[in-house]
Amino acid sequence: MKKVIITGATSGIGRELAVQLADKGYSVGLTGRRTERLEELKQEIGDLAFFRTLDVTDHERAEHVYDELINEMGGLDIMILNAGIGKDKLLPHWISDKQTIEVNVLAFAHGMNFAFRYFKKQGHGQIVGMSSIASLLASGRASTYTASKHFISNYMTGFRRKVKRIKADITITDLRPGFIKSELTDNVKNMFWVAPTDKAVRQMVKAIERKKSHAYITKRWRLVAWLAKITPQFVWDRI
Ligand SMILES: NC(=O)c1ccc[n+]([C@@H]2O[C@H](COP(=O)([O-])OP(=O)(O)OC[C@H]3O[C@@H](n4cnc5c(N)ncnc54)[C@H](OP(=O)(O)O)[C@@H]3O)[C@@H](O)[C@H]2O)c1
Repeated sequence: MKKVIITGATSGIGRELAVQLADKGYSVGLTGRRTERLEELKQEIGDLAFFRTLDVTDHERAEHVYDELINEMGGLDIMILNAGIGKDKLLPHWISDKQTIEVNVLAFAHGMNFAFRYFKKQGHGQIVGMSSIASLLASGRASTYTASKHFISNYMTGFRRKVKRIKADITITDLRPGFIKSELTDNVKNMFWVAPTDKAVRQMVKAIERKKSHAYITKRWRLVAWLAKITPQFVWDRI
C-alpha cells in the first residue's frame, strides 16, 4: 500500500487528509509543530501512522525528519506539502508577512526540492502542493498570502515542465481550495461557499488518486477561477 508524508497534519485539511488516506490503507507520515496533536492522531489512526514534531521552516531538521519517516514507513510514494499560514493580525505587518513567506514560500520550496530529488532517484512519485484559489487573485488585505499561493502554483508548473525533461514518472498535483472550514478560516469574515473539511478532503483524495495536475476544491470554485482569468485588471482594481 502507498506511503505518504503530510506536512501540517495537526489540524484542518492536513489532519483530515491523514484520516481519510489511512482509512484507505495508506501509511501516513505526519508532521507539525504541536506534538500532543500528533500523538492524538497516532492514537486515532494506529499502526499506519508515524509522526515527528517539525517546524517546516527548519530546513535542516526537515531533511532528517523526512528521511526518518521514509525509513519507518519503508518508502515514499506521495509527498503532500500542506503546511501553511495566513495573516496573523496580532503581529506587526512585516513580522506577519515574513512568517508567511518563511512557511508558505521558503518551506514549501524546500519540501518540493526534497521530494523532487527523492522521486527523481526512485524513478516515480507524486508531489501534492496545497495552493489556493487565492493563487489567482491579488488581495489588498492579504497580499502576502495571495502572492505566496501564486508562488506555490507557479513553482509547481515549473517543476511539472522540469519532469518532462527527465526519465522519471513524477506527478505534480496542484490543489486549489476555496474556503474550507479549519482553524485558518476560524476568524475570517465575509466567506462564502465554505465547504466542510471532510467533503473538501474527499475531493482532494480523488484528485490525488486520479493524478490530476490541478483541482479546484470544491468543484464550484472552477467558476471563480474562470472569472479571475477573464476579468480585466482595471475591474479588479475597483473591487
Ligand atoms: N481553509 C481554507 O479555506 C484554505 C483555503 C485554501 C488553501 N488552504 C491551505 O490549506 C493548508 C492547510 O490549512 P488549513 O485550512 O487546514 O489550516 P490549519 O487548520 O490552520 O492547518 C495548518 C497546518 O499547517 C501547520 N503549520 C503551520 N505552520 C507550520 C510550521 N511552521 N511548521 C510546520 N507546520 C506548520 C499547522 O501545524 P502546527 O501549528 O501544529 O505546526 C497545521 O497543521 C494551508 O496551506 C492553507 O493555506 C486553506
